Amino acid sequence: MKIILIGFMGSGKTSVGKELSKKLRYSCIEMDEFILKASRRNNVNEIFDKDGEIKFRKLEIVTAKKLSDKDNVVVSCGGGIVMNKINIDHLKQNGLVVFLNTSFETIKKRLDHDTTRPLFRDLKKAKKLYDFRQPLYLEYSNIIISTDDKTINKVCEEIYETIGKK
Ligand code: S3P
Repeated sequence: MKIILIGFMGSGKTSVGKELSKKLRYSCIEMDEFILKASRRNNVNEIFDKDGEIKFRKLEIVTAKKLSDKDNVVVSCGGGIVMNKINIDHLKQNGLVVFLNTSFETIKKRLDHDTTRPLFRDLKKAKKLYDFRQPLYLEYSNIIISTDDKTINKVCEEIYETIGKK
């Protein structure tokens, strides 16, 4: 099986992915790392600033396709994975999509002073993006886990228990 972690920037996908993959004895795949390798840039900011967001999204689609037939993996997606439904179609094959639902207030605190995310440079724009994406995360997920005030461990336990019941 494949577990796909989706959610807004700062919802904990990377940390949860690492922990959950250990618990399940799956490998852990960070989509942004794949995208970065394919881009030949040094970081995500550089891709956005030099190649543009459209190029990033294209690389994201290619990566999602490549990962479609992976098995026994936890995939941590970038927050924008839901911007192209085709990504979810690719990843969902033999997979369960888990939405880490985090309030904007919590995200704001977690990403305070963060400089690694090009789409979180402007708080007002980030909030708009958050509001736009919330219904998409809800629509594309099989499991929804609220993460506000929860430790990574607690979130993993909840996912683990819920998967068991599926
Ligand atoms: C993005 C989220 C980032 C990264 C890129 C775009 C987005 O990943 O893929 O900066 O569109 O929300 P995280 O969600 O891991 O921060």
